Amino acid sequence: MRPDPDGPRTVPAGLAHAPVLAALHALAFADPDLSGPAWDEAAFAQLLMLPGTAAFLALAGEEPAGLVLLRTAADEAEILTIGTIPAARGRGIGLALLRTAAAAACDSGAQAMFLEVAAGNAPAQRLYARSGFETVGRRRGYYHTAAGPVDALVLRRALP
Ligand SMILES: CC(C)(COP(=O)(O)OP(=O)(O)OC[C@H]1O[C@@H](n2cnc3c(N)ncnc32)[C@H](O)[C@@H]1OP(=O)(O)O)[C@@H](O)C(=O)NCCC(=O)NCCS
Repeated sequence: MRPDPDGPRTVPAGLAHAPVLAALHALAFADPDLSGPAWDEAAFAQLLMLPGTAAFLALAGEEPAGLVLLRTAADEAEILTIGTIPAARGRGIGLALLRTAAAAACDSGAQAMFLEVAAGNAPAQRLYARSGFETVGRRRGYYHTAAGPVDALVLRRALP
């Protein structure tokens, strides 16, 4: 367990947590305007078997309430997915997950962290801006949502 004096606790997640990660992801991304690949249990298990991939859970009390999955290759890390279940938002879990991911990426030798976010996803963009991410690119029509195609912004932050 990784205690965080500045916020909610985060704990490393392994293959055995694939079902929990998938359940949390389904709750966090239940909004039909959010989209992306299907992050089911098998997808998490496959990704967690790849070298350089790591996942963490955030706890609200003792209950898992958020997740982050990242991949580090050479000196770059990428946040593959991050989410907090709706009932636990606004308590600093997103920020704690990003801090944990950044620390893990640093430990693995990364010097920069990247992610993609939908152009209309204001809560996520505020979180990333607070965490020091800056927009470095745009992928037009990258997401296919219930409302139609949505651009992805590519964000980067230097580490640590
Ligand atoms: C984006 C997301 C991960 C943020 O998670 P979160 O746990 O709510 O994030 P935080 O609690 O750290 O920050 C959210 C807000 O709560 C505020 N907050 C944090 N701790 C707080 C506290 N103790 N008391 C009051 N407010 C607090 C933050 O300042 C922030 O305010 P803002 O909305 O004005 O920016 C979450 O909304 C989510 O899962 N969305 C759906 C999935 C998604 O979009 N993922 C990202 C895809 S790229």
